[in-house]
Amino acid sequence: MSKHIVVIPGDGIGAEITAEALRVSQAAAEKCGFSFTYESKQAGGAAIDAYGVPLPEDTIEACRKADGVLLGAVGGPKWDNVAPELRAEKAILGLRKTLGLYANLRPIKVFPALAAQSPLKPELVRDVDILIVRELNGGIYYGDRQEAVTVKGIEQAWDKEGYSRPEIERIVRLACRSAIGRKGRVTSVDKANVLATSRLWRKVAAEVAVDFAQVEMSHMYVDNCAMQLVLNPGSFDVLVTGNLFGDILSDEAAVLSGSIGLLPSASLGDGTGLYEPIHGSAPDIAGQGLANPLGTILSAAMMFRFSLGNEKVAAMIEAAVDQVLSDGYRTADIYQQGQGLTKVSTEEMGQQVINRLK
Ligand code: IPM
Ligand code: MG
Repeated sequence: MSKHIVVIPGDGIGAEITAEALRVSQAAAEKCGFSFTYESKQAGGAAIDAYGVPLPEDTIEACRKADGVLLGAVGGPKWDNVAPELRAEKAILGLRKTLGLYANLRPIKVFPALAAQSPLKPELVRDVDILIVRELNGGIYYGDRQEAVTVKGIEQAWDKEGYSRPEIERIVRLACRSAIGRKGRVTSVDKANVLATSRLWRKVAAEVAVDFAQVEMSHMYVDNCAMQLVLNPGSFDVLVTGNLFGDILSDEAAVLSGSIGLLPSASLGDGTGLYEPIHGSAPDIAGQGLANPLGTILSAAMMFRFSLGNEKVAAMIEAAVDQVLSDGYRTADIYQQGQGLTKVSTEEMGQQVINRLK
């Protein structure tokens, strides 16, 4: 049976980057004799404007039935002052929860052609190949919270962090499975010197690791991890952590690669997977052909790998992206003058990838 995907362009540069990822996906699939159908749905600010809510039922239903969901980016200043439950970000958080996407995979790899653009010295980042596995359905993101209220004349607010053994077990297991076939090392990141949730996390992670003889598990405090990521990023293989720490560390790790515009992500559960670049909607450059579509194109590759069951298409897309970069094509975010590089628009970048599919 032919596979079916939902494309959610979202806001800002979302439409341009998903259009290129879709074009590349169709061309690569065709070359491999694979076919899929797609439909577009709205979420985020675009859905707030059209339906009054960031995540319409219709979008949720379509995503539930699909094999994979490809998302651009949501949010923008236009919707920054809406009520908290209507924020565009709620679309992402709602999709993660309703689709049971408990694992967020963010591979951080340095493209050799871009190593010089990393804010760190090239010799520090050359060997970086990190897989961040972030828990995505629990922790402080989904705990009870109290928006600001005034109690006895003092304004206050709180958010609650909670983790259960099953939530920790399933994500650490996935991290350990992912480490097999890589360097076999998992760093579990927590703040067990202070937080109760982290002490449970560390205990459960250590227990899970016992089942994986080929995996070497170590534990690191999150503050130290933030430091090691810039001091010695090449020392990491798989990094597994909770929702909030994962959010922060993955942005930090992302810049090692020289551009956040290049990095893909997969959010996985037991059903449909959601694929999106890790950057935001960049409303300031929307509609000008300046956006880098490679993060979304690489997210589509991950979708072929994890949700559409076609490794060949995934690998073909990834190889074409490598080739485009070594051939010197650059969107504005990664272009540098005087180095013999060719500056291209969002659409031209998509086309250059298509030209190199083989
Ligand atoms: C991310 C983003 C989201 C998050 C926002 C948009 C809610 O920062 O995917 O990392 O915090 O998880
Ligand atoms: Mg984030």
